[in-house]
Amino acid sequence: MRTQVAIVGAGPAGLLLSELLHRAGIESVVVERSSRAHVLGRIRAGVLESTTVDVLRHLGLNERMDRDGHPHDGMRIVWAGRDGLFIDTQRHLGRRFMVWGQTQIQEDLYAAADRRGQVILDEVPDAVLHDLESGQPYISYTRHGSAGRIDADYIAGCDGFHGVSRQSIPTGVRREFEKVYPFGWLGIMARTTPLPDVTYANHPRGFALASFRSQTLSCFYIQVPLDHRVEEWPDERFWPELKARFPAELAERIVPTPSIEKSIAPLRSFVAEPMRHGRLFLCGDAAHIVPPTGAKGLNLAVSDVWYLSQALAGHYRRGDDSGIDGYSARALRRVWSSVRTSWYLTNLLHRFPGASDFDQRAQEVELDLLKSSDRAQAWLAEQYAGMPFEGSGPAP
Ligand code: FAD
Ligand code: DHB
Repeated sequence: MRTQVAIVGAGPAGLLLSELLHRAGIESVVVERSSRAHVLGRIRAGVLESTTVDVLRHLGLNERMDRDGHPHDGMRIVWAGRDGLFIDTQRHLGRRFMVWGQTQIQEDLYAAADRRGQVILDEVPDAVLHDLESGQPYISYTRHGSAGRIDADYIAGCDGFHGVSRQSIPTGVRREFEKVYPFGWLGIMARTTPLPDVTYANHPRGFALASFRSQTLSCFYIQVPLDHRVEEWPDERFWPELKARFPAELAERIVPTPSIEKSIAPLRSFVAEPMRHGRLFLCGDAAHIVPPTGAKGLNLAVSDVWYLSQALAGHYRRGDDSGIDGYSARALRRVWSSVRTSWYLTNLLHRFPGASDFDQRAQEVELDLLKSSDRAQAWLAEQYAGMPFEGSGPAP
């Protein structure tokens, strides 16, 4: 098989890239390790930056989002024994967020791919990338017992943190930056009325977060030690612990119902540089991971593929390779900005094991500073909202 761009991974980055390329008249083939049912069954992100919303609207993939999603103006921070504050991105920047599930975006992306007859090879367990430094890279694989090969002009590695693409960049070329945090998030989803705002809580018992997917579907997260297992957290243990971490007036609004999903995720910041090697480009979680504090991961996947689609359009339409040559640096500027923000929020809002009284007081003073200064809030609002796209963004 021959195509212009071979895309590894059919997650949000891979399928969105194939859609953007199609709009630019560029052919692609997508290779995915799992089945479609598995990809669609993953419950993950839910908070979209305005840039992500603009991209989905630009592609006409906004009908369900604009009907059933929930725009909101920012996020609330509360902490034990102090007044909370609202980081208002709408007031400071005129930018709103959209609460809308990654699962639904993934459904819309598959539906759009089917409409345009996109080739997606799923259940490919063993894709191998070859000859990335030549002008003729290719992917070899087996699918349902038969060997196959895709020749392409370029390969886009959109295969998540555990994928094969990043590992295909020689270690002498690849530089990795990593920070592992000494705790994880236990997350649940439950059919119960959410709190009015996405609310982050700093409490001596640990961090907690209230978010939602719809007016009847809530998700809640609590900081737990790294060695805890989901089995240790039956609902009867989870709900009282969650409520204990929110101020009483919010806790009493949380109505426990049986959880419909429960998982524990460790927190990590990770960036691999460069995001291009020869004919291979990395996009999304394949190149970087952020701790979920700040809800940046999916949004970075979207900005990466936006930049890459622009770069490839420049190459195929105008023979202009400046976008391709500048892709890694351009994408990394936005990546590092969000990596820094999610690291900052993780430090601000969690209780770190072994923190000294000094560390604790410094964290409290930081929170007080935010509370008392509108300028500090405007600064955080700008970080939380995410950098605008460089160059030409999608028309809002
Ligand atoms: P993935 O979604 O990981 O997709 C990669 C795809 O590649 C997968 O389908 C995988 O099966 C496939 N693949 C892997 N290896 C191979 C291979 N060798 N060959 C072929 N295919 C392969 N982000 C936010 O912005 N906001 C949030 O609120 C938020 N909340 C989150 C909550 C949770 C619990 C989690 C886990 C994540 C959250 N994130 C959030 C992060 C967000 O989900 C990810 O950043 C996003 O999924 C990245 O998309 P991606 O397409 O780059 O990678
Ligand atoms: C979710 C929301 C957040 O604001 C965040 O930081 C992480 C996750 C969520 O809705 O899943």
